[in-house]
Amino acid sequence: MRNFGVNMKIIKAHNLACPIDGKRLESHEMQMICGNGHAFDMARQGYVNLLLVQHKRSKQPGDSKEMVDARTDFLNSGAYEPIASKLAEIIFAQTSDGNSTCILDAGCGEGYYLDAIINELKGDSRALSFIGLDISKDAIIGASKRNKQITWIVGTNIHPPVEEASVDIILCVFGFRSFDGFKKTLKPGGKIILVDPGPDHLNELREIIYLDVKKSDSQDSLMLMPEGLSLLDSKKLQFKISVNNNRQLQHLFLMTPHFYRASKNGREAVENIQELDLTVDVVFRVLQMQ
Ligand SMILES: C[S@@+](CC[C@H](N)C(=O)[O-])C[C@H]1O[C@@H](n2cnc3c(N)ncnc32)[C@H](O)[C@@H]1O
Ligand SMILES: [Zn+2]
Repeated sequence: MRNFGVNMKIIKAHNLACPIDGKRLESHEMQMICGNGHAFDMARQGYVNLLLVQHKRSKQPGDSKEMVDARTDFLNSGAYEPIASKLAEIIFAQTSDGNSTCILDAGCGEGYYLDAIINELKGDSRALSFIGLDISKDAIIGASKRNKQITWIVGTNIHPPVEEASVDIILCVFGFRSFDGFKKTLKPGGKIILVDPGPDHLNELREIIYLDVKKSDSQDSLMLMPEGLSLLDSKKLQFKISVNNNRQLQHLFLMTPHFYRASKNGREAVENIQELDLTVDVVFRVLQMQ
């Protein structure tokens, strides 16, 4: 891990908003309360659940505990550290001294990337506040254990429970994006950093799962730029990793959409692999609110 070598000050996020009426939430002991008296308990792990029942499409939306644990196990191996490093580098380039900067990780999962980014940016003199948002309660419980300096919330990217026009940078890493929700929360000129699989991502795994592997289209050509946003920058990152036991390979498999798309034969094929060298191919795009 690199360190960007200046003094970072992590400040508390003060822009959480009531999911019912959008009013600012203030903390009072173990609750977050809005001006209209809507109150939300802080969980003992430190996160707050701001997901309204009417915004849930199932009883336990988002990633299951099994998926969260698999992701934690795989990411803790350090295999995707270059992705976190690149992300920190891009964030560093997009922030400047002066006013405090709020970074929202939308669909943060179990918090690996925000935690790793904080470790990389340690030493930066800017005042930064970090919010991790995910619809999965199990993911946010895992994230709360990773890092206590981050404000972790259960909620949806469709209606992010933060004040309108209060966020400088939104991260969406292999995540579920809602540009309407993102645009509402971004300050004018704010940025969205999207991290998506590139055309060669995990090719070797896909060759095992599918009989006929088609090169996936580049995300750049697939994406229709949403109104009010423009593409500021696009970068590619490609590196190799070696997975040397089946458990880790299964965990990686479970992190990908292929786990659900694969046939029974495809899944069985992955069960029989003990070692695999894999290509990681990732595209980073920075979009800006006009
Ligand atoms: C592929 S995972 C990526 C997690 C994390 N960014 C990472 O790369 O480790 C997608 C995440 O999006 C979350 N998610 C799905 N729908 C969501 C929504 N509507 N709002 C917020 N998060 C959502 C899931 O619970 C899951 O944690
Ligand atoms: Zn309220």
